[in-house]
Amino acid sequence: MKLSIVGTGYVGLVTGTCFAEVGHRVICVDNDAAKVKLLQTGGIPIYEPGLEELVQKNTAAGRLLFTANTAEGVANSDVIFIAVPTPPHPDGSVDLSYIEKVARDIAAAMTSYKIVVDKSTVPVKTGEKVAETIKRYCKTKVEFDVVSNPEFLREGFAVEDLMKPDRVVVGVASQRPVATMKQLYAPFEAPVVITDINSAELIKHASNSFLALKISYINAVSAICELTGANVIEVAQGMGLDARIGRRFLDASLGFGGSCFPKDLSAFVKIAEQVGYNFGLLREVQRINADQMDRFVKKINDTLWVLKDKTLGVLGLAFKQNTDDVRMSPAVEVCQRLLKEGARLRVHDPKAMDKAKAVLPPSDNVVYVDDMNAVAEGCDALVVATEWEEFKRLDLQRARQGMTHPILFDGRNLFDPAEMAELGFIYKSIGR
Ligand code: UGA
Repeated sequence: MKLSIVGTGYVGLVTGTCFAEVGHRVICVDNDAAKVKLLQTGGIPIYEPGLEELVQKNTAAGRLLFTANTAEGVANSDVIFIAVPTPPHPDGSVDLSYIEKVARDIAAAMTSYKIVVDKSTVPVKTGEKVAETIKRYCKTKVEFDVVSNPEFLREGFAVEDLMKPDRVVVGVASQRPVATMKQLYAPFEAPVVITDINSAELIKHASNSFLALKISYINAVSAICELTGANVIEVAQGMGLDARIGRRFLDASLGFGGSCFPKDLSAFVKIAEQVGYNFGLLREVQRINADQMDRFVKKINDTLWVLKDKTLGVLGLAFKQNTDDVRMSPAVEVCQRLLKEGARLRVHDPKAMDKAKAVLPPSDNVVYVDDMNAVAEGCDALVVATEWEEFKRLDLQRARQGMTHPILFDGRNLFDPAEMAELGFIYKSIGR
């Protein structure tokens, strides 16, 4: 099938590449000419495991093309995906101006029936607005259908999530686009849930908010574990084996971050408010998340007493493992809070150091260290802020010897408290 994807950000690039991988012909459109050029010459603008190889393979096979021209994408496609950003306004509501602009651009270029699919995360009822806009701006007055098809991919596991989805949600206003959408997704062999457009849009916000709620729930439980001497990992294990609950997204941490959960929670609270429902439950999820960060920083403060003139090593800058994304990263927030208290930092991340430099500029107080095993050198304490697998293989003997005091604050529960005690560390983790 012939598709185009307007917006070659995270979602657009991974989605387009995976559609090409299963045999569709995909044109990725982006208004950033430099990005288009980079992609045309085999480079990729983000780090995502497995993606670069797939982009190169499918570009070479002629199934994956890049252009800065929306009209070219529309003219050569039967299905056009919208995958542009939906950033938050300062009050938490969603800025839909990119979506509206793309809808107008698509409308202006349409000369035959098209299926226009919204993949960006949008408030319920956006599909209706997109349809209205296309109708208004399409001079040729050709027929079209608008479809809502939210994405559920996780950064760091995006290719895997796209190639083997748990489900595909397709929201439609008529039966006409259903067969094409099913055919498009047939190679992925996943259950396809057909709904109305409003429900499909709600499924996305409801799913992300529920996952964030699950994390805040276990983080609140972790606070009680700390107050009672229980172990949150054992609690999560015991809860998670109940099939109705499930173990995933019950990893206590210093809080969730990234470009999705914080933004989608605020958006959902706002959407609810706009339609007349007070979603206090989600406000509490946000409060617990902020509190979890406060409690972690307080733990560091209480232990070290004064942070001014102390040097702390920080392992991790990305908002989670397997990505170079530092947007709304709890790891970066920890760094910023420690700097504010007067600490000096030695920081390391396997992939996110370049991107982190924009939000945490290198200085006398922020030293970027290439080798994770050299981070602890001369430090008064070490902080684990991102759950990279390779941090589990940290040379702990070397770290301990290089530190003025062997104190480790583990915001991701990567190490075993008993082993850390045996190695001579003062070890403080989450909910244990
Ligand atoms: C999330 C959803 O998981 C995807 O399904 C969705 O498609 C995506 O948002 C989106 O809307 O685009 P993502 O933000 O990439 O994906 O990352 P997650 O793996 O969900 O993690 C989010 C945050 O929660 C991270 O900071 C992570 O460290 C934290 N987390 C996750 C925990 O603290 N504990 C857990 O048990 C799981």
